Amino acid sequence: MLRRLRDAGYHVAPILTPDATRFVGPLTFSALASEPARIGLYDDPELPIPHTTLGQSADLIVVAPATAHLIARFAAGLADDLLTATLMASASPVLLCPAMHTEMWEQPVVQENLATLRRRGVLVLEPERGHLAGGDEGAGRLADPATIVTLVERIIKGYRGPLTGRRVLVTAGGTREPIDPVRVITNRSSGRQGYAIAEVAARLGAAVTLVTTTDRTLAIDVVGRIEVVEVVTAAEMREHALTLAKEMDVVVMAAAVADFTVDPAPNKLKKAAGPPQLALVATPDILVELVANRRDGQVIVGFAAESTDVLANAQAKFERKGVDVLVVNDVMTPGAGFESPTNEVRLLLRDHEPVAVSMRTKEDVALEVLTRVVALLPQGDQ
Ligand code: C5P
Repeated sequence: MLRRLRDAGYHVAPILTPDATRFVGPLTFSALASEPARIGLYDDPELPIPHTTLGQSADLIVVAPATAHLIARFAAGLADDLLTATLMASASPVLLCPAMHTEMWEQPVVQENLATLRRRGVLVLEPERGHLAGGDEGAGRLADPATIVTLVERIIKGYRGPLTGRRVLVTAGGTREPIDPVRVITNRSSGRQGYAIAEVAARLGAAVTLVTTTDRTLAIDVVGRIEVVEVVTAAEMREHALTLAKEMDVVVMAAAVADFTVDPAPNKLKKAAGPPQLALVATPDILVELVANRRDGQVIVGFAAESTDVLANAQAKFERKGVDVLVVNDVMTPGAGFESPTNEVRLLLRDHEPVAVSMRTKEDVALEVLTRVVALLPQGDQ
């Protein structure tokens, strides 16, 4: 990995923990890296506070392999050796590549520490399955060096593509409308397709804002490149979407917005009082408002989940909403729509026959949708 990073033109300053030197000698690292390997906080008289110098100058800190112990120390904020002190003294992105025995990897405390670190913005490249030290087999093997190096390049250089310089707003997930302090009206949307659109847009170079009701894990290569705004109700989603859209080149309304809401009761409704009469009120159609307020050249994409007369209903929706692209889901198709990792859709476009997108991953569906969007964007005004 060191050699590959050097070959790719990076300046690599290695830090070894004292335990790491039992496996590989520091000389090996010094020979391959751009600087001599460092081990202790107080080893170098020329560099009396190495952790701050290293931490401040790094574009990225990669910890590979990250042991269960290192992960625990980092999560707890300990800084008792050069590596943890450098991590603490740095504001750069950190990529952890855990490697350990399967039993250790599956320990709840390890997973909870990683969840804590992820919440703080640390990137975690999950280990792979395969042969482990001592002849065991299972999850916990350090990710392939080529994968790590590719990810390092992505993190440092970012993505450039047909959406570079464009701002994209994506909404995802089903809204939750409170009935009382305990109960909500919601739907089965998982947010997967919206997340996939946000991730693929970021990989195509866009600056992405994701307004979402679901807290899913973003793909590691785009964490930090997608601004996430969490909302609950249709009203909150509307407020954020309408404000943010003023600055956007593209808006993709993948969220399943409740069509009806209710004035919530201040206290929990009592079962003994019998079935409550809920006075449902229609929510404003965010998509229609977005289209009415659209900026010059802005491309707007809507979604339609249908279960009967799919194409006819979708055509009517396409006209009513005034969007540029309508992504049509037949929710009765097995393997498509809610909660599924795959999807099969049809795209309705202006002056164009409907485009059938056969069953594929939601990322690949996202790419199809965004490819159409790219073609609709006015050129030369980035
Ligand atoms: O009318 P219907 O709910 O089927 O339309 C679905 C599309 O409209 C989706 O893109 C959804 O995000 C959007 N929508 C909206 N505001 C609503 C309801 C739906 O923007 N109140």
